Amino acid sequence: MIDKIHNLLKEISEATAHNREEVEQLRLKFLSKKGLVSILFDDFRLVPPEKKREVGQLLNELKNQAHQKIDSLKSNFEGKVDGADKDIDLTRPVILEPGTRHPLSIVRNQIIDIFARIGYRVAVGPEIEDDWHNFSALNFPPEHPARDMQDTFFITRDPDILLRTHTSSVQIRTMEKNQPPIRMIFPGRVFRNEAISARAHCIFHQVEGLYIDRNVSFADLKQTLICFAKEIFGEKVKVRLRPSYFPFTEPSGEMDVSCNICGGVGCNICKYTGWVEILGCGMVDPNVLENCGIDSKIYTGFAFGMGIERISMLKYQIKDLRLFFENDVRFLKQFRDSW
Ligand code: DAH
Repeated sequence: MIDKIHNLLKEISEATAHNREEVEQLRLKFLSKKGLVSILFDDFRLVPPEKKREVGQLLNELKNQAHQKIDSLKSNFEGKVDGADKDIDLTRPVILEPGTRHPLSIVRNQIIDIFARIGYRVAVGPEIEDDWHNFSALNFPPEHPARDMQDTFFITRDPDILLRTHTSSVQIRTMEKNQPPIRMIFPGRVFRNEAISARAHCIFHQVEGLYIDRNVSFADLKQTLICFAKEIFGEKVKVRLRPSYFPFTEPSGEMDVSCNICGGVGCNICKYTGWVEILGCGMVDPNVLENCGIDSKIYTGFAFGMGIERISMLKYQIKDLRLFFENDVRFLKQFRDSW
């Protein structure tokens, strides 16, 4: 037993540890309830009386040495992350990964750029609107369902102050302040009380366009939008215009493009039709021009409004709209575009 204790004394005095884990292993081996020291104390009963004094002293020494050693090894790692001190290389150059533009900003900038090349200027309007600019001036009848609580986030009722449901409100603000010719686009964020899903969100982004002058015709509208679709999706995109209805345009239409996600075969984004609607448009209703102080006998014009999310989904083949709002860097850093 004496030899055994001497060996253990030697072992503990030579012990080293590279991290907390190794110190803990050492503590378990020597000082835990079933550790070596404890076992030796149990065996102490069997030591013949004449040896008890010597063995007792040695045993106590072993116990104290083990405590001291383990405490001192432990203090080496106190307050430090294992290995952190020796792994810091102060000579290493700082490599910061550059941030990337959000895909919605990239696409918004592309849309602005395309229209800028054909003479459109950009303006913005407030996100908090009154009933006049969001609905009444746009010819929405008082009982129109879009005014309903289910679609619109109202801030106050009577007077109705709300989060704009579309960027068409900025058309009104622009026409109130400017006489034709007007050739402008209005990008911005809009709000609707919709359940969030892969295809819909309560916050999204639109770009509204407006062209008012003498002799502006539906042919101009068509030509402008076809030109836009080819610029944004490439020459090969297929385009179709369908008749539609909006209170603020007459006649009204909607433009579809061939689905870029499934290549026209059918998927949940194109609702298995091969076509995706990207914008609403039409000739500005004479009532709307008059509401804004523009003489509808002299001037005509067209307007259109498109969803930036929808266009981005098609361009980048993104199947779930919620990804735009989650800000997961693994998603965002895939869009290294310089626009
Ligand atoms: N404001 C419409 C919407 O949010 C889109 C729209 C349709 C805008 C036709 C227009 C237009 O300017 O002429 O659904």
